[in-house]
Amino acid sequence: MTEVLTVGTFDTPHLGHARLFKTCEQLGNVTVGVNSDEFIQEYKGKPPLFTFEERATLIARLGYKVLINTSAGAELIREVNPDILVIGSDWLRKDYLKQIDMTPDELDELNISLMYTPYTKNISSTEIKRRVANA
Ligand code: CTP
Repeated sequence: MTEVLTVGTFDTPHLGHARLFKTCEQLGNVTVGVNSDEFIQEYKGKPPLFTFEERATLIARLGYKVLINTSAGAELIREVNPDILVIGSDWLRKDYLKQIDMTPDELDELNISLMYTPYTKNISSTEIKRRVANA
């Protein structure tokens, strides 16, 4: 079975996340790496709205295997060693490999394909927080 990994924060779950998970599911056996509260605090400078426990429990209830991601991503990716690493296409405009602290050579050596799936427009955790603030 093809092993598929996606890694993210998944704060305030939304349609974009659901579509990403569906794509992963269509590709194989899904593992979701969920960023730890400490990593989010360090990376974004503020805590998530939902705790790791809350975010991870919801994703696990959707039927996906959940692992905690405590750093940029490289450690978890090496540990899971998936066939495909899936991320949203918003990352086409940013340097995903730099973000996860891996090189193209390393992905090749591990036989990991990086796949971009279409970003769902007009929805994001940031957008939901904005809507709540304005409600
Ligand atoms: N994603 C997506 N479509 C969206 C939002 C996110 O496909 N509308 C994807 C991202 O590309 C990433 C994964 O979902 O692969 C997790 O993204 P995450 O940062 O947790 O979600 P966002 O809603 O974008 O959060 P934020 O607004 O805080 O950046």
